[in-house]
Amino acid sequence: MVPTEVRARAAALREEIERHNYAYYVLDAPTIPDAEYDRLFQELQAIETAYPELVTPDSPTQRVGGQALDAFPKVRHAVPMLSIRTETDTSEAGARAFDARVRKELGLTDADPPVEYHAELKFDGLAINLRYEAGVLVLAATRGDGETGEVVTQNVRTVRAVPLRLRTAHPPAVLEVRGEVYMRRDDFERYNARQRAAGKPTLVNPRNGAAGSIRQLDPKVAAQRPLSFFAYGLGEVRGWPGAPETHSAALDALVGFGVPVCAERRVCHGADELVAFHAEIAARRDRLPFDIDGVVYKVNRFDLQRALGFVTREPRWAVAHKYPAQEQLTVVEAIDVQVGRTGILTPVARLAPVFVGGVTVTNATLHNQDEIDRKDVRVGDTVIVRRAGDVIPEIVGVVRERRPRPEPPRFDILQHYPTCPECGSHVVRLEGEAAVRCTGGLYCPAQRKQALLHFASRRAMDIEGLGDKLVDQLVDRGLVQTPADLYRLDQAALAGLERMADKSAANLRAAIEASKSTTLARFIFALGIRNVGEATAKDLARHFGSLDALIAATEADLMAVRDVGPIVAQSIVQFFREPHNLDVVRKLRDAGVHWPEDAGVQQSAGILAGKTLVLTGTLPTLTRENAKAMIEAAGGKVAGSVSKKTDYVVAGSEAGSKLAKAQALGVPILDEAGLMALLASAGK
Ligand code: IVH
Repeated sequence: MVPTEVRARAAALREEIERHNYAYYVLDAPTIPDAEYDRLFQELQAIETAYPELVTPDSPTQRVGGQALDAFPKVRHAVPMLSIRTETDTSEAGARAFDARVRKELGLTDADPPVEYHAELKFDGLAINLRYEAGVLVLAATRGDGETGEVVTQNVRTVRAVPLRLRTAHPPAVLEVRGEVYMRRDDFERYNARQRAAGKPTLVNPRNGAAGSIRQLDPKVAAQRPLSFFAYGLGEVRGWPGAPETHSAALDALVGFGVPVCAERRVCHGADELVAFHAEIAARRDRLPFDIDGVVYKVNRFDLQRALGFVTREPRWAVAHKYPAQEQLTVVEAIDVQVGRTGILTPVARLAPVFVGGVTVTNATLHNQDEIDRKDVRVGDTVIVRRAGDVIPEIVGVVRERRPRPEPPRFDILQHYPTCPECGSHVVRLEGEAAVRCTGGLYCPAQRKQALLHFASRRAMDIEGLGDKLVDQLVDRGLVQTPADLYRLDQAALAGLERMADKSAANLRAAIEASKSTTLARFIFALGIRNVGEATAKDLARHFGSLDALIAATEADLMAVRDVGPIVAQSIVQFFREPHNLDVVRKLRDAGVHWPEDAGVQQSAGILAGKTLVLTGTLPTLTRENAKAMIEAAGGKVAGSVSKKTDYVVAGSEAGSKLAKAQALGVPILDEAGLMALLASAGK
């Protein structure tokens, strides 16, 4: 009797495997990684071995390969396209077990010499049979179920690596070349980058890129995909005088016919040389230009291959020896952000640790909000993680059916991080940009080094001698946090730095001192405002004439400047709206940084022109000086006491009698946000 739960489990496994089969083979859209699929399949096989009465004719274990897409015509293979036995023991024991089996089957003893093998790579793409008649490609077919495949000649013809005619004066009457259509990793990345830029769908992984392209119904679509091809064997052969007698010679002959064969292959004698090949390729796997999931060993002599024969469509003379999988399932435990040198907040998925591509992975970048939206990754999701080559681990997709209930909310960077996790400055997403950025460019620790290098650069404040290495030291030792701190460095602090002789310290001091006398354009450029380059800085300086006028400018004011569009205008307003930045600007001026100012070409009147404001209490982010500077820059006056003539009272926490008086007199009262809104409102 089969226990009820075992029967139910087998049924559930069959159903789940069939669903994945359909997604993989028919829709070309895998829902789980291969390793996970294999696990399900093996569990079902184990149950069916223990309870053979559970085996149904339609069990996924009872067939090889996939169901053919109806859309393509079918063709019966002249010689079946066999499958290959997989050695899942990724240690060297896998190779030794294969050699031991071969020797036993061939009746060899320890006294006999080592068996000659051919070792090659196991490519990760789509198996294809190319049929050449009299040297001309007449048919290309997928493997299908091994007996019958799909005719994909039109699509395969678009693969440049596949010769349409063999390069020989005396081709065999019939020659079937078997091999793999695959996609190189760089081609895959480039293709996806192009698709992404065009807002079009991307490929899940190179293997799927290859399989999906060949099984495209429209050859024009296939033609746009950068596919490659390697031959690894033969199918039907007729009329080939002097046909090779070993697998390696057959591949050499194909090379002679102009068919691409991967050069990473060699003849090996006995198990030791197979083990060495496996290890050598493992060490270089990441640097190969394409994905492999293992190596393949084949008995080299065709007569021995025939003697060994095959069992249930798997030849006894070949085995695939795997490497650790490059895709695995894991769970997203959290989504954090990292602030980069340029202030971009990059979302990072924190993952339950998972062993993939030979390393334990706990993080994967999610790039930006668009990427999160496209993949719809949420905290708690089960995801497919991929690590191939030296490429940083990435999330390929979400296993939707494993999403927790109730569904976790969509992840929105701006909602989770309204302020920068490094410095608390406001975070914005500029129009037309994928990136979310911290606006505290002058203040944020993550952006410090970048900001300082830019500030000191030749076209900005031109502080000679302040390069990478020095900035690293100054920041790492906590001597400098913002550009304003540069002006407080004394000779003693500088002389204490590595490779800094007294003389060079003195020179640097002098350069810093000299930089105090600058121009408005240089200063504006030095601030490192996003989208404000040298030319824009000059235009801004000419137009506004003074820094305060620039600080007070609204987006509309800014757009009156030559070449300044809405994005640049927005960047500038956001920069000066961030109190941390204003603070640094004030400190720079206090330190003595100065420049000649004038009225500018079109000095704006200022939204607060003629208005009197009174400040009281503690504002949440603005210091009193900064608030005053902003009001004055907008043309307003700050008075010490409230009267009927006061236009606004700006009140923070612990505001006392001035607030009471304003209320009594009916003077409008603003909080900090209200003040900011007022300053930003002009021209809107
Ligand atoms: S030989 C008789 N050699 O692996 C053996 N297959 O199940 C027939 N594959 O999908 C296959 N690299 O496309 C062979 N160097 C290689 C291979 C290779 C990849 C694929 C093949 C098929 C699967 C075999």
